[in-house]
Amino acid sequence: MTASDCIVRGYKVTGKSWLLMGLVLGIGKPRNPILGMVYAGEVESVGKNVTSFKKGEQVVGCDRFGFGTYAEYKCISSKGLLVKKAANVNFEEAVAIPYGGLIALYYLKRNVQSGQKVLIYGASGAIGTAAVQLAKYFGAEVTGVCSTTNLELIKSLGADKVIDYTKEDFTHSEERYNLIFNAAGKRKIKLQCKRALTKNGKHITVDDGSPTLLMENLILLNNLIEKGQIKAVVDRRYPLEQIVEAHRYVEKGHKKGGVVVKVK
Ligand SMILES: NC(=O)c1ccc[n+]([C@@H]2O[C@H](COP(=O)([O-])OP(=O)(O)OC[C@H]3O[C@@H](n4cnc5c(N)ncnc54)[C@H](OP(=O)(O)O)[C@@H]3O)[C@@H](O)[C@H]2O)c1
Repeated sequence: MTASDCIVRGYKVTGKSWLLMGLVLGIGKPRNPILGMVYAGEVESVGKNVTSFKKGEQVVGCDRFGFGTYAEYKCISSKGLLVKKAANVNFEEAVAIPYGGLIALYYLKRNVQSGQKVLIYGASGAIGTAAVQLAKYFGAEVTGVCSTTNLELIKSLGADKVIDYTKEDFTHSEERYNLIFNAAGKRKIKLQCKRALTKNGKHITVDDGSPTLLMENLILLNNLIEKGQIKAVVDRRYPLEQIVEAHRYVEKGHKKGGVVVKVK
């Protein structure tokens, strides 16, 4: 499950987004009362015209506005955002990647060039752990910013440097970055970031607009998983019966990578 699942459940939006979310989710009550956007599982059956998937195949995908993945079965369009699961990961690993991976790819793919210095703020969350690995894949020199307990994790994902935000303010150092990606969102670091950017450097926050989750990016992520170039970070696993506890944990905003809800 994801930070977005908590935002949707709690209807935690204001201003223009309040109305937009109402139109997407349903005004007054949710169109689909079952939440959940990301899923991994086995195909139970396929429609008579479906040729791209077959019964028994293992798939992973994301239904951003259809929801309904906190369930044993879900009906999915074969043309939706789904791919065959990479063989070298289990369901728990597979399901932990698409959300953070697709959002990170949306922001980084067009903004990172090989050799650039990139700083990922909020490097330990779902989006941050994917962003660190993807920025490395694009050839950047990567600095991850996180709290003390996550320093080793971020190093293990390939970051060249890590900064503990509880001890050091990166905006006060002499280092300059071509790109600062705020993967933690919400926290307004844009103004302070200016002095840590190169002359033409760019600051992007994950809360800038609504990222488009693209099929071509899901395919790229799947290829990178298959080649072992990115790996899943799974924090906690909860059975569906403990969905309340899972939401409470994710809502704290300090998970490492993804939290998995297991449905029997
Ligand atoms: N625009 C959109 O449509 C969209 C879509 C999805 C998500 N988002 C935004 O993206 C954010 C991150 O999503 P996620 O799934 O990656 O969340 P997550 O897995 O819960 O990760 C949250 C991250 O924030 C860090 N963090 C928490 N407090 C911090 C602080 N005071 N200073 C610096 N870092 C701090 C955490 O690191 P530590 O534990 O080390 O503190 C963690 O790395 C969400 O909160 C949401 O605002 C936007």
